[in-house]
Amino acid sequence: MVSFLVSFCMYVYSFSQCFSPKQLTVLGKQDLSNLTKFISFSRKSMQRNKQVAMGRKKFNMDPKKGIQFLIENDLLKNTCEDIAQFLYKGEGLNKTAIGDYLGERDEFNIKVLHSFVELHEFTDLNLVQALRQFLWSFRLPGEAQKIDRMMEAFAQRYCQCNPGVFQSTGYVYVYTCYVLSFAIIMLNTSLHNPNVKDKPTVERFIAMNRGINDGGDLPEELLRNLYESIKNEPFKIPEDDGNDLTHTFFNPDREGWLLKLGGRVKTWKRRWFILTDNCLYYFEYTTDKEPRGIIPLENLSIREVDDSKKPNCFELFIPDNKDQVIKACKTEADGRVVEGNHTFYRISAPTTEEKDEWINSIKAAISRDPFYEMLAARKKKVSSVKRH
Ligand SMILES: *[C@@H]1O[C@H](CO)[C@@H](O)[C@H](O)[C@H]1NC(C)=O
Ligand SMILES: *[C@@H]1O[C@H](CO)[C@@H](O)[C@H](O)[C@H]1NC(C)=O
Ligand SMILES: *[C@@H]1O[C@H](CO)[C@@H](O)[C@H](O)[C@H]1NC(C)=O
Ligand SMILES: *[C@@H]1O[C@H](CO)[C@@H](O)[C@H](O)[C@H]1NC(C)=O
Ligand SMILES: *[C@@H]1O[C@H](CO)[C@@H](O)[C@H](O)[C@H]1NC(C)=O
Repeated sequence: MVSFLVSFCMYVYSFSQCFSPKQLTVLGKQDLSNLTKFISFSRKSMQRNKQVAMGRKKFNMDPKKGIQFLIENDLLKNTCEDIAQFLYKGEGLNKTAIGDYLGERDEFNIKVLHSFVELHEFTDLNLVQALRQFLWSFRLPGEAQKIDRMMEAFAQRYCQCNPGVFQSTGYVYVYTCYVLSFAIIMLNTSLHNPNVKDKPTVERFIAMNRGINDGGDLPEELLRNLYESIKNEPFKIPEDDGNDLTHTFFNPDREGWLLKLGGRVKTWKRRWFILTDNCLYYFEYTTDKEPRGIIPLENLSIREVDDSKKPNCFELFIPDNKDQVIKACKTEADGRVVEGNHTFYRISAPTTEEKDEWINSIKAAISRDPFYEMLAARKKKVSSVKRH
């Protein structure tokens, strides 16, 4: 009977933590000691759970601080393997925060990234299946360099799990896998993002990937399968807010009304702006065929500025150059096309949100193509590896 009561109390305790002293008086000494032990153990484990929950919360707000908190409270060992395991399990963790932590440039974080990738098992998965698994385990950050590091780690792991899928060996082999992974991610965006108008066919996808297998072609059958798989089902990414890799790798086009400060005569004019082909065009009316002005964005920078007259301002300017006129053109009232006369273009957006969106889009358009830069850097590595 007493024993039963102890078990019962433990049961009650583990659920509600409430315990009346009256109940304790009916227990024998031995049982009481068991119960005390049990309660003390439960208390500790409950406190531990509470602290882990707090650590997760902290992690979601600031990944580095969260990890530090868990380590300081002996809830996590300070090794890349343990941290990687914690992130891989991902219980209660925000996948954007996991991506931020894994994307850090820090040497330690890079080691965690590699341990994290090694926890993934890709054996006998095709590249699309492996990518689906990988891209679901955290939210890929937006910056090209972070994506580059993560995808290289992925490619290494994939090749390690699947020797013999690609022709070459060593780093060249990883490079093939890396390039093809990107081709697949871009294909996903091209096929499924409604803002991308140009939808490649399977033939074009095959043609695009000619020669990537160390100068040779990958089996057409393989490429066809990968294409079909993406076409039938887009990659899901966690925390998808619609802001996928389009912003990082595709030229974002935008249009809208903005106010532009004149070059010579400092008056504000309302103009319809269109951002496309790495140029900013402005029109007097949305229906005009000919723009009033064209500003090529090559070699320009953009910054936010405060203006005493207008809110939400930003400026296009030539970095490290005060007086040089920006190469641009405009159409005079009589139809003559003349060179612009701006050392900077000051523009005011209707709202803060629109200002931020314009700045982001223009920044993305200005930066030279980050994708080709990344591939070029990898290619260099391949040829230097080959030479040695
Ligand atoms: C209490 O502890 C003793 C000795 O450790 C053990 O033999 C006994 O089964 C325990 N009783 C209960 C109810 O757990
Ligand atoms: C995860 O974090 C991101 C960025 O901080 C936030 O936008 C998103 O809502 C969070 N997701 C959840 C499920 O809390
Ligand atoms: C794939 O495309 C869909 C639709 O645009 C998008 O929601 C998703 O984020 C994309 N996945 C990746 C990994 O870019
Ligand atoms: C941008 O800079 C490069 C290198 O200085 C130069 O060759 C090119 O003509 C410049 N382009 C424009 C539009 O000014
Ligand atoms: C540009 O401005 C300078 C002085 O501000 C002026 O002399 C020049 O004629 C202007 N050029 C054009 C094309 O308007």
